[in-house]
Amino acid sequence: MIEHRFDAVIVGAGGAGLRAATELAGLHVAVVSKLYPPRSHTGAAQGGIGAALGNLEEDHPEWHTFDTIKGGDYLVDQDAADLMCQEAVETVYELEHWGLPFDRTPDGLIAQRRFGGHTRNFGEGPVRRACHAADRTGHMILQTLYQQCLKHGVHFFDEFQMLDLLIEDGRCHGLVAYEIDTGELHTFHAKAVLLATGGFGRIFKVTSNAHALTGDGVAIPWRRGLPLEDMEFFQFHPTGIYKLGILLSEAARGEGAVLINGKGERFMERYAPTLKDLAPRDMISRFMHMEIREGRGIEGKDYLHLDFRHLGKDIIAQKLPDITEFVRVYLGIDPTREPVPIQPTAHYAMGGVPTNNDGQVIMDERNTPVAGLYAAGECACVSVHGANRLGTNSLVDILVFGRRAGRHIARTVRESDLVAGRANPGSAVAAEIRDLLARTEGESVAAIRAALQEEMMARASVFRTGGDLTSALETIQTLKERYRRAKIDDRGRRFNTDLLEALELGFLLDLAEATVASALNRTESRGAHFREDFPNRDDANWLKHTLIYRRRDGYEFRYKPVVITRFQPKERKY
Ligand code: FUM
Repeated sequence: MIEHRFDAVIVGAGGAGLRAATELAGLHVAVVSKLYPPRSHTGAAQGGIGAALGNLEEDHPEWHTFDTIKGGDYLVDQDAADLMCQEAVETVYELEHWGLPFDRTPDGLIAQRRFGGHTRNFGEGPVRRACHAADRTGHMILQTLYQQCLKHGVHFFDEFQMLDLLIEDGRCHGLVAYEIDTGELHTFHAKAVLLATGGFGRIFKVTSNAHALTGDGVAIPWRRGLPLEDMEFFQFHPTGIYKLGILLSEAARGEGAVLINGKGERFMERYAPTLKDLAPRDMISRFMHMEIREGRGIEGKDYLHLDFRHLGKDIIAQKLPDITEFVRVYLGIDPTREPVPIQPTAHYAMGGVPTNNDGQVIMDERNTPVAGLYAAGECACVSVHGANRLGTNSLVDILVFGRRAGRHIARTVRESDLVAGRANPGSAVAAEIRDLLARTEGESVAAIRAALQEEMMARASVFRTGGDLTSALETIQTLKERYRRAKIDDRGRRFNTDLLEALELGFLLDLAEATVASALNRTESRGAHFREDFPNRDDANWLKHTLIYRRRDGYEFRYKPVVITRFQPKERKY
């Protein structure tokens, strides 16, 4: 076991982790990441970052706050949304000053485009709020932040996979990580640990999420007795490439592309007469499934079309270069000439590790912080997205709350001493790895993962019922049994991806279980959680956040009130 001591360790090198790291200049800080930082999934965020700059038309942070709350079907904590939408503006200018190459208006201002659910004057019509760098906005943010971290002397431990957290008596002392190159275990002792590991879309078969998104930083705290919040809410993005799930940015619709059914109809006009194809994602994904179920898929099949053709070659080449290339490479289609087959794709977890507005992880419904433990970005639940996130708000979230967490950590570690945790902290992980490497009989990890992803797609995606969720939970329990007996083929120490995929499957199984159990528990429909057996929103009983705890004999649910300041819940119409 190799030992390290730092003031703060950040796990994950996406936007939230890197933004926090830039706040810790002058301290002894490490970023531990299972990928090389520029390969983090923030780089896959395409269409833009929302901020009410008002560069092309009137806009205000209050309007952004309202849209975020309404888009989240009123499960959003309104104080957090307010902070996010106010601070979004300075956060974007900060990136501009650090050199991020945003697209420009003819006057040289940051260019902005329309995105789903973002409106002027509390819902009157679409507004241009998404600041963009073509359809590579996340990529540019990642490069800009990485440069800042290198400038500030942040230590990077690239290709190190976190496998455990050292949590004792309500305090986090550090973490255990596996060095992928050598197979060695490392203990990082720290005054503060920030989880910024992203989402877990890989629980589903069709997803926009990269292979690395296995929710390690969500599953580990759950295993260590901490709760997860609002796990029942998982967003499907309407425009994934058919069968592959690869994202085709909402920016396409922001620029004017439209959704078309098998009868050639622009069907969203029927469902959302004001915002049409720019209604929030939960609604569009649901309406797409309804069109398909009612036989109006393309040629009666299970997909629809995204039509860009009328935008013209120049706009497509200038504003949507990456996604048009994806369509050419993965489907062999030229989107300037043909409509593109699409289907909803698992995209974003609204739930995760509960935190307060400074990124401190909380352990209960009274918001008691876990000393030394922070979370930011998709792995966290602040909650600014409630039951359904608006497009562009994940980039805002990672930057605003990455920055807030970084600032809080900087204040805390300056005032505190490093406290040693338990002796031999990596022994449980070492035993698990030894056990996996020693098994010579058993079935393959890939088969169990495929069965999990199929089951989640079939029974726990856009439409859910109590019966389906109950069978999904039973299936997951059976898969967990099978997982305990799974075997891997590679027994080597260097770059043993077979071993890592097995460990990651353990995280996915836990998170699928927490997702399904929470979905079964919530007997209403809200945002991205749609129960066909409880099709209405039920504010009288369910205007509250779920906390799910793992217990020896199952789960415990507790509830936290939603913070409501200015906007009383109303029916959502677009
Ligand atoms: O459609 C997109 O470009 C995705 C953006 C987001 O999830 O915020």
